[in-house]
Amino acid sequence: MKPASGDTSGRVPRPAFLRLARQLTLGGALAAAPAVAGPSHGEMLGTGCTGCHGPDGVSTGNGIPSIAGLDKFYLARAMVQFKNAERPSTIMGRIATGYTDTELRQMAKYFGDLAWSGWQGTPDAAALDEARRIHDEVCAECHEQEGRHQDREMPRIAGQCPDYLFLALLQYRDPQDKEKPPQPDKMLQALQPLSDEQLLALSRYYATQK
Ligand code: HEC
Ligand code: HEC
Repeated sequence: MKPASGDTSGRVPRPAFLRLARQLTLGGALAAAPAVAGPSHGEMLGTGCTGCHGPDGVSTGNGIPSIAGLDKFYLARAMVQFKNAERPSTIMGRIATGYTDTELRQMAKYFGDLAWSGWQGTPDAAALDEARRIHDEVCAECHEQEGRHQDREMPRIAGQCPDYLFLALLQYRDPQDKEKPPQPDKMLQALQPLSDEQLLALSRYYATQK
């Protein structure tokens, strides 16, 4: 199988990925940092997020996830975990500390009530068959309906941005001591035998499920 882009040999070095993630995010952070708490209304507060997460929380890039239309309990939990350093992040930890838990929940409700809109990129046919096989074997048990299923425990991954998914999969497969993603043991076990190439294929597979 040929991966979607670039390097075919071995694992992608983590530092390169973290650098990429920081490049993608740092510029926006300065512009969008929540200096003032503002009115306690999810939509008003949420305008501070759209510089990175896209207009109304629908991402326009590859690296930063869409948040519009994810389950609002998942959104609230994820943001509180970012704030409390219980969820690994390049940037969200710092952003979330600018808000009270109540404000984070107000934003979660606002973004959660919006409609989901899937990633609009070009499918990578070469990677999809292998990824579908892995999905059926070890991921479908939880990520039902090709990753469209979501509930308060897990986000929808179908139609999410591919580079964000790839970065997330690397973090979930290789959890670092201080930044362990809150995942079920079974997911860790499912991911650990997979190569970077397979994770890249999976990220493309889910991104192209509308
Ligand atoms: C500077 C860019 C930036 C800004 C501004 C930003 N985010 Fe994020 N967000 C990210 C990145 C990058 C990630 C992936 C996690 C990480 O590396 O920090 C993320 C992840 C998330 C996630 C997790 C999504 C998932 O599927 O698990 C949520 C929820 C979220 N952000 C909400 C918000 C909210 C609400 C705001 C506004 C208060 C906001 N973000 C502002 C860049 C940003
Ligand atoms: C035992 C159930 C289970 C299995 C098996 C499982 N997952 Fe997950 N997955 C979850 C849960 C629950 C979460 C949410 C964890 C959290 O709070 O971050 C999650 C999160 C994710 C995320 C992060 C989404 C985001 O927006 O942050 C990705 C990507 C993902 N899973 C992909 C996979 C892939 C690929 C496989 C198969 C190799 C897999 N999962 C197997 C339950 C599972």
